This record gives sequence, C-alpha cells and structure tokens, in this order.
Amino acid sequence: MVDRQRARRSCLAVPGSSAKMIDKARGLAVDQFFLDLEDAVAPLAKAEARERVVAALNEGGWAGKTRSVRVNDLTTEWTYRDVVDVVEGAGANLDTLVLPKASGPEHVRWLDLTLTQIERATGLEVGRIGIEPQLEDAAGLAAAEAIAAASPRVEALVYGPADFMASINMRSLVVGHQPPGYDVGDAYHYVLMKLLIAARAHGVQAVDGPYLQIKDVDGLRAVGGRSAALGFDGKWVLHPAQVDAVNELFSPRQEDYDHAENILDAYDWHTSAAGGARGAAMLGDEMIDEASRKMALVIAGKGRAAGM
Ligand code: GLV
Ligand code: MG
Repeated sequence: MVDRQRARRSCLAVPGSSAKMIDKARGLAVDQFFLDLEDAVAPLAKAEARERVVAALNEGGWAGKTRSVRVNDLTTEWTYRDVVDVVEGAGANLDTLVLPKASGPEHVRWLDLTLTQIERATGLEVGRIGIEPQLEDAAGLAAAEAIAAASPRVEALVYGPADFMASINMRSLVVGHQPPGYDVGDAYHYVLMKLLIAARAHGVQAVDGPYLQIKDVDGLRAVGGRSAALGFDGKWVLHPAQVDAVNELFSPRQEDYDHAENILDAYDWHTSAAGGARGAAMLGDEMIDEASRKMALVIAGKGRAAGM
C-alpha cells in the first residue's frame, strides 16, 4: 500500500523550463516540490520543459522530498502529452501529478486511467503515482467531494487562489487579502473550509496555494496562518524567502506540541492504571477524554512528522 499521507507543510513551485531554478530547488528545505508545466511555462516552451522535467527527475538529488509535476489542465491540448512523456520518461522517479483546474471527478478519472495504462505498458507499479487535483474555480469547488472521491490515487486537494479569485470575479488583486469593501469577516473562509471538509471527508490532505507577494513574509504569515489554523496540511511556496515561514506555520507551536504529548501520556497512564475501565482522566485541572486524545494525536502527529 502506498502511504498517501505525506509531509506536505511546504510545497515549492518550480518552473519546469528553468534549469537554474530546478537546481536551486534541490537545496531547499521543503517537504515537496513540483516541477511546473502549466502557468509558469510559456506555450512555446512547453515541449522543451517536458524534456527538462524528465531529466531533472531522473538525475535525482531530491532525497527527502515528495517529487511532483504539475501538468497542464484538461482544457488545453497539452495535458495528455505532458502525462505520457513525464510518466514514460521518469515515472519511477515521480510521486504525484498535480492536475490544475480540476473541475469535476471526470478529470481525475481520466488521469487515473491514463496513469494505469502507462504503468501497465512500462512495467511500473500500478497505482503508486498519486494525484493532487487543484481546485481553482467555482465548478471545482462545487464538486470538491466528488473530486476527492474520484480515485484512490487522490492524495490531497490543492487550492489555487489566484485562478479561483479570478474565476468568481472577486474584487481583489492580492491573493489572500480581503477584497476592498468587504468588512464583515474573512472572504475566504467558506472556500477554505469547503475544500478542507471535502478532503477530510475522504481521508485526503488539504493544501493551500501560493502567496504571490514573495517579499512580504508578514502577509504570508497572516494569510497562511488562517489555513494552518483551520487544519490544512501545508501551503505552496514560490521563493526561498517563504520556506521557513511556511514550515513553521504548518508545524505545531512547541507549546502545543508539548501539551499534546502530555495529554497522550496522561491519558495512557490513567487508562492503563484503571485496566482500561476509565474513559476520562485529569491533567492538572483539564479533563481529558477520548475526544481530547484524538485532538492531541493530530497535533502530536504533525509535530513528530516535523521532527519536534
Ligand atoms: C495557483 O495555481 C493559483 O491559481 O493560485
Ligand atoms: Mg492556478
């Protein structure tokens, strides 16, 4: 069985057409990277970028990172060639494909079947390569649950905030910032929560998209802090300057991690002392029960994965 619950605190976007940026990416402390064939690559550079991406995956140097490629979306003429060339050329060195502008489960099923065909034809393990549908428009968000359920290959739902804001005509030019004139709360709460609930309902991860103001680390912390607080697993990064902040945002705070481990220890100690007969225990003046144990497990699990 492939473990589809990977560390995904930070996912670095790397233009598939840039040898320089691909080289630089190898040295960055991100959990995941994706070599982009979509919006970071000009139409005339797509074919060359595919070759560069295949070579970069096969050359290696990516130890410890989940290796992904973002193909073009299914409204273009490029998608099938992206998938065939990348998976035939470097399938053994690829962990997931990101499918942008996924607007319905049929997009994911198409990719699942195509991957299976290529895996069979080339002798790759069938089903190992995962899929990360990126939800970037109203249709995609409306179909979030069906998309998450469309294939056992789905590992994460990824939010595409820039395309999403454009697709719903949101009156803001800055990703994640509240649109001027909207002063009654967080204009993004519904979108993030809907994606997150759809992901969790189907046991897959939820990943926030990019923050485009790469020098504004405070802005990144504010916007990324919201999805991190809700429970997202990670966020895309576009630049080395964003990596530390995002790794930190999506790791638990030290005090929360320590507290979670204390809850787990206290709960285990009390329940085993009672021979399994007790369902609740006290930690100082805090009552802990099976539900608090589950909350603590989430935080402790994230902390352990982050090496705390
Ligand atoms: C990313 O693809 C976005 O549209 O924000
Ligand atoms: Mg996009």
